[in-house]
Amino acid sequence: MTESPGITDRNEELFERAQRVIPGGVNSPVRAFRSVGGTPYFVARGAGAHVFDTNGRRFIDLVQSYGAIIAGHAHPAVVEAVQRAAAHGTSFGAPTEGEVRLAEAIVERVPAVEQVRLVSSGTEATMSAIRLARGFTGRERLVKFAGNYHGHSDALLAESGSAVALLDADAVARTGGVPGSAGVPAGAVAATTVVPYNVVPTLTEEVAAVIVEPFAANMGLVVPRSGFLEGLARECRRVGALLIFDEVITGFRVARGGAQEVTGVQPDLVTLGKVIGGGLPVGAFGGRADVMAQLAPLGPVYQAGTLSGNPLATAAGLAALDLLDAAAYDRLHATAARLATGLDRAFATAGIDVRVALAHTLVGLHFGDTEPADYDDARRTDEATYAAFFHAMLRRGVALAPGAYEISFPGLAHTDELIDEVIDHAVEAASEVAAQRAHG
Ligand SMILES: Cc1ncc(COP(=O)(O)O)c(C=O)c1O
Repeated sequence: MTESPGITDRNEELFERAQRVIPGGVNSPVRAFRSVGGTPYFVARGAGAHVFDTNGRRFIDLVQSYGAIIAGHAHPAVVEAVQRAAAHGTSFGAPTEGEVRLAEAIVERVPAVEQVRLVSSGTEATMSAIRLARGFTGRERLVKFAGNYHGHSDALLAESGSAVALLDADAVARTGGVPGSAGVPAGAVAATTVVPYNVVPTLTEEVAAVIVEPFAANMGLVVPRSGFLEGLARECRRVGALLIFDEVITGFRVARGGAQEVTGVQPDLVTLGKVIGGGLPVGAFGGRADVMAQLAPLGPVYQAGTLSGNPLATAAGLAALDLLDAAAYDRLHATAARLATGLDRAFATAGIDVRVALAHTLVGLHFGDTEPADYDDARRTDEATYAAFFHAMLRRGVALAPGAYEISFPGLAHTDELIDEVIDHAVEAASEVAAQRAHG
């Protein structure tokens, strides 16, 4: 397991240095291990299903850059595409063929997308889609679901899941911040209405858009009840609001055409990210051509980006999408099912109440005895037991996300043998946690 055993603990050393120059030592909060405790591992390199930390330890990685990686780390096709693109220049501020090809690939695969614009992150994609929906409808109100995470723009930080759920609510309240984050002015969320997931809200004609994670994957994994997404589409049509599917996680992961393909529900706008960048910074938003035509330079809704459609990112994204044929999706489904079934067995054997959710290729854990249907349910997850399980797995060489609200991302590099190894470790880890609880 050890590649090159270090005398000193490089992770500790780097974390100490990092904290001096980076707030909390990290560039995205969940990475700091605050909710699970301990020192984060610093990644030296990745290869396929594995990451290697700076101490030379190898982990089977189920984080996979929170879903940005689908074919495994440093996949040769992606590496080669990036190298080739980089040799020709890294950014121009002028259009390139790569952008056209990635846009064509998205339009061809995603049913609701007639036109698409590329940006540099999922946050930018959702933020821009909302501005567009408001510009198109001439209305302001935005409806979002509690526990759905759409990135960190002001208007969308109300009752988000993901690592936002781990913020100290009292500290936020002391600053006068909205429930979500300090620093978000009340005015920024005044036109945002937050409603419970899995219940179709009754809308009014002041609603510009409803944004939803079609499979909620930032409060653990909460699957849509039968009829929920269909009902939402109907209600949006009734009042002339646009339906936005945030497919930053589900896009190209649950199926070639994303959640809209597997649910049969067609939104007006779609946001994408993660997989479409092959691990480089990319996002995209697209949808109905008449709506997209409102964007500058055609229409009055401004949206832009110096690095949008970046040649390295489009090359990496195209290489990743090229790997995703029908056989790849069959494989992803089988791998996710194997993982979910095995984890379920591991917890059952240890006598720990965990609901293992499986939706196509997504796997989530809820540490509790009932399947969550919304954010209130999801927040009842036993974070302390998750943290104990996380560390028991990490000690055995399996990296789960260091946060109870994140899901696992089985990918093409996770062979059956590796998944079975994960399960063997999970059986031991779960029984260790059960024993700790019995004595604690
Ligand atoms: C559903 C969803 N939307 C949007 C985002 C924001 O994407 P990014 O982190 O690239 O800004 C995320 C990030 O995890 C996400 O899960």
